[in-house]
Amino acid sequence: MQKHEVVVVGAGLAGQRAALAAIQAGRDVALVSKLHPLRSHSGAAQGGINAAVGAEDSVDTHIYDTVKGSDYLGDQDAIEFFCRAAGPTVVEMEHFGTIFNRGADGSLARRPFGGAGFPRTIYAADRTGLALLQALWERLGTEQFTTYEEWDVTNLIVREGAVQGLVAFDRRSGEFAEIGAKAVVLATGPFGRVYGRTTNAHSCTGDGVAAAYSVGASLKDMEFVQFHPTALMESGILITEGARGEGGILKNGVGERFMTKYAPHVLDLASRDVVSRAIVTEVLEGRGFPGDYVHLELMHLGRERIESRLQEICDFARNFAGIDPVTQPIPVYPAQHYMMGGIGTDIHGATNLRGLFAAGEAACVSIHGANRLGGNSLLETLVFGKEAGIAAAAFASTAPAPALQESDLDRSVTPLRAWSSRSDGEDPTALRTEMQRVMDRYVGIYRTEGDLLEGVRRIRELRKRFERVRVVDQSPVYNLNLTDALEVGHMLELAEVIVVGAYARTESRGAHARRDYPTRDDVHWMKHTVATRTPEGPQLSYAPVAYTRWEPKERVY
Ligand code: FUM
Repeated sequence: MQKHEVVVVGAGLAGQRAALAAIQAGRDVALVSKLHPLRSHSGAAQGGINAAVGAEDSVDTHIYDTVKGSDYLGDQDAIEFFCRAAGPTVVEMEHFGTIFNRGADGSLARRPFGGAGFPRTIYAADRTGLALLQALWERLGTEQFTTYEEWDVTNLIVREGAVQGLVAFDRRSGEFAEIGAKAVVLATGPFGRVYGRTTNAHSCTGDGVAAAYSVGASLKDMEFVQFHPTALMESGILITEGARGEGGILKNGVGERFMTKYAPHVLDLASRDVVSRAIVTEVLEGRGFPGDYVHLELMHLGRERIESRLQEICDFARNFAGIDPVTQPIPVYPAQHYMMGGIGTDIHGATNLRGLFAAGEAACVSIHGANRLGGNSLLETLVFGKEAGIAAAAFASTAPAPALQESDLDRSVTPLRAWSSRSDGEDPTALRTEMQRVMDRYVGIYRTEGDLLEGVRRIRELRKRFERVRVVDQSPVYNLNLTDALEVGHMLELAEVIVVGAYARTESRGAHARRDYPTRDDVHWMKHTVATRTPEGPQLSYAPVAYTRWEPKERVY
């Protein structure tokens, strides 16, 4: 049995930053990841990272934009903390070696992003996440720590109300092991693959979130699912908001710049929930292109600007849609992109379970409330990854040694062995496809009571069928059939929390748009949803939103 003081699960930006902080605090740290760290989904973030730097911008404006963007569901004290940490975080990442774009005077270049009152998104072309990930991984490489790379976590071990470690298996050998820890940080990213049409990587299956939920961690605001307005048709690959930040415009099938109707002041750079609903409305009302999409036009920006600032999306459009953005419009339609909800934490990553911390998209602090602003998620990974690492290290410095038992391993492995020993049962990939169809159809951008009820019924039916899941592949080596089954189980659990929370919230706020309750209801619903696992399904309770300076008002862009 391996033991460490702090075990970080997930090696994207949040996990790496947590690990670095815990190492710097003098702890023995291990990083467990199902991917090579540089293949983490953080690397898919394109457009940039927000920070109010320079004389013309202000931290207060960043705070206000984030509060407004959240549709007043974000905790204002947490948002203040977050925005104040932005400048130092970007400078630190630059010192670690991130090469950001620069303006003619040598200062950090910034582009406008949706819902922001000032162009404050700092970027490295349209590969900002990848640039940050490379720099942080190189920085981490100068430290001593243990990695468990290509290991799948099956569950957390909790004894006497405190997390003591986890059980995981090595994909390369199929060997299961207990890894003891005085503190565990979950930074396993999102669970966007509960949807079929998503910008999320195939690895985004919510493993850490589901593991935490199953041992009693509370999940917060899970019904708030962000759809990015511009994902490439067919593949759902992200076409960065930076494209509109650089001056790209949206047009419908009859050649109108339709955002003039929906956001007359900022047009294509309204917040994501507003632009996504606008595109869906245009298509539903018959003003899309045949095949149901709209156009993102960049041609007027000129080859030099497009190919230097938006290199990656040029490649995507050319390789995956056969479209050259220099000369042709890009066909786009919204796709699931980000989960505002996650494991409930404070600003230091602490959860309701002792010894368990979370950060990044797996967590809900909550700074994004009902809708996240573009450019705030890269920042979130770094700010709260660091906080969680510091807090986990402090916790571990006084916590007793983890008390693991042989039976912990048996208890974790026995159900998985049962999946492999069945001669008949459900195919995990078929269950995943059905779940994705249900979520796309019944729990999308516009929601109704009838659809959500049907969504609950169908997801529960799939969960029941999952009890008979069968792993056909008997090989211990890279048994991705086993990984699939594990991931589908996690996603079904989380899908149920999303749809139950969405059904219960009888208002429209941010990304949660109920056709049957079309307005925001601050009297009854200015509160966070908190979900706790029970054998019968998620039990919902509600928690207050923290206010400091900003009174809720109507959100107009
Ligand atoms: O559009 C984008 O580049 C996405 C950025 C983000 O989600 O923050």
